[in-house]
Amino acid sequence: MRRLLIVHHTPSPSVQAMFEAVRSGASTDEVGGVEVVTRPALAASPVDVLEADGYLLGSPVNLGYLSGALKHFFDLMYYPCLEETIRRPFGAFLHGNSDASGALRALESITTGLRWRAVLPPVVVTGEPGKADLEACWELGATAAAEIGEV
Ligand SMILES: Cc1cc2nc3c(=O)[nH]c(=O)nc-3n(C[C@H](O)[C@H](O)[C@H](O)COP(=O)(O)O)c2cc1C
Repeated sequence: MRRLLIVHHTPSPSVQAMFEAVRSGASTDEVGGVEVVTRPALAASPVDVLEADGYLLGSPVNLGYLSGALKHFFDLMYYPCLEETIRRPFGAFLHGNSDASGALRALESITTGLRWRAVLPPVVVTGEPGKADLEACWELGATAAAEIGEV
């Protein structure tokens, strides 16, 4: 069984809706052999990362950056996981109310440093997530699962 780890910070219904769509896609019956593990960003550990085969990361955009919670996760896991997780697949979803560019830049810089491989471009939603946004979240989850599981 391969493991897909979802690390998320979900302080509001908008981000929660995106998280649930991503988790639903990640758990699709169309992909076998994948166990989905979810961790709030403030509770995720480097061991969670080392024990997983792929990652999905979710956060609101706060003060022009990733949430402090997701940043804390990266601060904890970066060096303990740097050598062990090279080339592992990941996807990300961000929610902001106006401008996500700073958070996107940070995410790209951190995941480039880790040498992780994006399965799709990050899903970025501004304002209340609509049907198409949630479908994009579902697709992100399913694509990450397909990357590590059996289709
Ligand atoms: C302290 C704080 C700072 C924020 N900074 C940004 C920001 O820089 N860019 C942005 O697009 N949204 C910003 N937001 C909006 C949040 O991203 C948004 O509240 C969050 O994604 C949840 O969405 P919701 O409030 O519509 O449910 C900020 C929110 C808070 C509370």
